[in-house]
Amino acid sequence: MNYNYHQDLNIVRMNTMPDRSYYIPCSPGDDTSSKEYNERVLLLNGSWQFAYFPSFSEASLESTPDNVLPVPSNWQMYGYDNHQYVNIDYPIPFNPPFVPKENPCGVYKRTFSVELTEKTRFYLNFEGVDSCHYVFLNGVFVGYSQVSHSTAEYDITSFLQDGENQIAVAVLKWCDGTYLEAQDKFRMSGIFRDVYVLRRPQQHVRHYVVQPSIQQESATVSFKFDDFGTALVKSVKVLDAEGRAVAQGETCDDTLSLTIENPVHWNAEQPYLYQMVLDTLQERIVDTIGIRTIATRGNVLLVNEQPIKLKGVNRHDSYPDTGYVASREQMVMDLQLMKQHNINAIRTSHYPNAPEFYHLCDEFGFYVIDEGDMESHGAWSSHGLRDNDWYALVHHDQQFQTAIVDRVQRLVTRDINRPCVVIWSLGNESGLGINTIAAVDAVRKLDSSRLLHYESKNFMPEDEGKFNFDIMDVESYMYPDLEYTEKLAQENKKPLILCEFAHAMGNGPGSLSEYYELFYRYDGFAGGFVWEWCDHAILQYDANGNAQYLYGGDFGEVLHDGNFCVDGLVYPDRTPHTGLLELKNCARPVHVTRDANTFWADNKLDFADLSDALSIVWTLEQNGTKIAEGSITDFSLAPHSKAQLPISLPYIDGSRIYLKFEYLQKAAHPLIPVGTSLGFDQFDLSTEDMNVSLPESHSAVTAEQTKTGWLVCGEAFSYHFKAKLGTFDSCVINGIECFARPAEFDIYRAPTDNDMGEAGIASYGQHSWNSLRLDAAHAYTYETSVEQSNTSVTITCPLSLVADRATPFCNIQAVYKVHGSGAIEASMHVSVRKDLDYLPRFGMRYFLTEDFQNCTYFGYGPQESYSDKHAGCYKSMFHAAVPELFENYIYPQENGSHYGTAECTLSNANTTLRAYSTKPFSFCASEYTREELAATKHHFELQRSGCTVWNIDYAMTGVGSGSCGPYTLEQYRLTEKEFVFDYTFFPQKKS
Ligand code: GAL
Ligand code: MG
Repeated sequence: MNYNYHQDLNIVRMNTMPDRSYYIPCSPGDDTSSKEYNERVLLLNGSWQFAYFPSFSEASLESTPDNVLPVPSNWQMYGYDNHQYVNIDYPIPFNPPFVPKENPCGVYKRTFSVELTEKTRFYLNFEGVDSCHYVFLNGVFVGYSQVSHSTAEYDITSFLQDGENQIAVAVLKWCDGTYLEAQDKFRMSGIFRDVYVLRRPQQHVRHYVVQPSIQQESATVSFKFDDFGTALVKSVKVLDAEGRAVAQGETCDDTLSLTIENPVHWNAEQPYLYQMVLDTLQERIVDTIGIRTIATRGNVLLVNEQPIKLKGVNRHDSYPDTGYVASREQMVMDLQLMKQHNINAIRTSHYPNAPEFYHLCDEFGFYVIDEGDMESHGAWSSHGLRDNDWYALVHHDQQFQTAIVDRVQRLVTRDINRPCVVIWSLGNESGLGINTIAAVDAVRKLDSSRLLHYESKNFMPEDEGKFNFDIMDVESYMYPDLEYTEKLAQENKKPLILCEFAHAMGNGPGSLSEYYELFYRYDGFAGGFVWEWCDHAILQYDANGNAQYLYGGDFGEVLHDGNFCVDGLVYPDRTPHTGLLELKNCARPVHVTRDANTFWADNKLDFADLSDALSIVWTLEQNGTKIAEGSITDFSLAPHSKAQLPISLPYIDGSRIYLKFEYLQKAAHPLIPVGTSLGFDQFDLSTEDMNVSLPESHSAVTAEQTKTGWLVCGEAFSYHFKAKLGTFDSCVINGIECFARPAEFDIYRAPTDNDMGEAGIASYGQHSWNSLRLDAAHAYTYETSVEQSNTSVTITCPLSLVADRATPFCNIQAVYKVHGSGAIEASMHVSVRKDLDYLPRFGMRYFLTEDFQNCTYFGYGPQESYSDKHAGCYKSMFHAAVPELFENYIYPQENGSHYGTAECTLSNANTTLRAYSTKPFSFCASEYTREELAATKHHFELQRSGCTVWNIDYAMTGVGSGSCGPYTLEQYRLTEKEFVFDYTFFPQKKS
């Protein structure tokens, strides 16, 4: 085909209708805004004939395609072309306006029938086509449009014939818009949102804007119409949620203003919507209206004049089985999970989502930062890898201005009537230049009722001093570390928003609670958006029907960014990651604090009184067993206020006594069943420490030297200590061996995604874990000595942890006292090499026979917990089978540890192995070795070790957010240079 609009920066569309607000009209007698069961809508979704061509020049409309493809879909999901995942860099040469000659093209065809009448006009709509499309009707060119995530509408009346018509759409993989769509995602193509024809009367309202404003006891809703200047009579009715008309009016002008007395306002907690019924002679438009305002006062962000916090996430349209296609069910599922995890805000990173998504956000209550389809930091690497001087090239270069301005105009015009949209965002990571300024002007012209956001502050060297970043209404940053964040929060003149923070890749994010603490500490801190909602991956199945997830590089791509797309709070199938559970409790609606024997509740909601929103239940546990409970159901507490909780607790002495307050959904909400837990607080009420002294035992123990060490025997056990390793290599209880391999000292962990830089895997570091050779550490022992008494044997073994090439990492004085009961009191005096910043972990690793499947522990659970990631966990006695302790990250890595453990047992049918300490420790029990986790690139390639690997760690370094954000905070790293690790290892026959 011989069209070239897709390589012309000044032509972003051809023959499209002017942009309009999004709505679906219906017949006057109907009451619907849905595309289904609407006689005015001819939905063209479904099976289309499809022909794939490796290049546009080879494509032809004439050929009869023999394949079919569903619409909406991405053709890469159906075996055409190839998947490619790239983050920042352009997947094509940066040679605008040109794109590669090998430009994959899909030609879609189908027929549909219409009945032509004098009275009807027909409008063809595409809600999303990546990257651009040429449309033909009955062989005649109709028009062209780009901007993948925006609607394109064509008046096709004059192209139609009565009866059957053939539509053909040529979709190209690349166009000059590709330079503006370098978002961090799989680069997929095709018609991925709805396609339909609207039948409309000759005279109709084309575009309308609804603008509410709030007065003391009323609200004014002003309407602005565009009816092509036909002075059409427009009558508007506003109905409340019960369907009662609360305001109505009629006009043939282009404006109308209605007043609603005592209106119910919209906010994310109480998303009250009115219905608008806009009637013209032959058509009706049904839409919803939310009465809400957004403003700033000083540096405080206000919705309906009330300060709010945005507890947000960044969301992409990304599904493992449907690619960019987001059905209503899929979107509702996302929103339901978000609601149930206390998320109240979404940034549509980095493009407008499907129009229906915003209606769902209106209905269910979310604040939305609606972002333009704009990201151009591929230019960063256009003159060498990531050269800052070129970052802003596209926003600096005037030739892109038409396209850049078009993108924000399409954004604002389409979604202008959505109450959920509180902030417009120009786009992401494109730098600052004259085109940014033009885009700002364009947005301001179209809408002054929302705030404006843009984070990207890089500019070209020649633009130095030309721009002032004050043109935005909010201060936005991504991934600042805590210290800098706090400085920003102290100094900001406008509401501070972290449009991205807490990179949720793999095991993480760490320190989320610290950020949330800052949100609440500073009034001018409006909150933040975790990067990101979901893991992006492509689903395939193995021969047995097991799901396998693929990421960048799995499709033979030359340029790709590996698993950097697997960085969400939920797995691709929306199973929550442990990071989401962490976020949930950081964003919990109530905070309870303790002041001696009184408990105070702090309502963290912005609008709802506690008695309307939640009930509080409390439980008192001793050593993990419930001993008392109660509930507080009608506790009235205004938003943002604090009061003493009316409870009286039974007085209980003892150890491991924990009180937990849990916040349960009380109000009816379509996405949150009544009774759903929305978070908790827990308090340690113990009056004494747990008595962990050893049971008395007078049975005899003997030690006998062997070729490799000492055999230590008692009534029911025999242990073998291997001198060369400084550990036991055999543990026989009642004649049955418990160890599959000798125990080992362990200071390394399978790097998490967040560790990759620190480990020296993502980028080479001179003093990274792997360059230091921490991964190869093993024991070198010195002279072992053995002392014997009647009821115990004490083995003292000085040793170092060493690796080839390296100076010892630490010196350890290991002392094991074996008692007649079989208990081994281990005590390690550890001195760590002074120049090592920190160790990933320090502890002992046991390899038990694989039948050790049952785990019981008293510590932070039930999900994995780390020193900087346990806000979503509580302390109790937990029971789990070893496989249940495993977190199956798509990219295997350290997982499943439990912080703050006082006691842990592993048992099989015969034996219970118990480890405990007076000082809380971390443990992990897994079917996989850390070597296997570290060496394997996909979850489905993991091989079980054949044993139960049990780590008992003095400490495990926290997880941080270092894959894109800050590394683990100093206080959560194992930085100690001298410490003592005491714990008791107690194997016993099962009673
Ligand atoms: C940000 C970017 C996001 C995503 C993230 C890393 O810089 O805005 O789109 O790429 O980094 O996952
Ligand atoms: Mg990016």
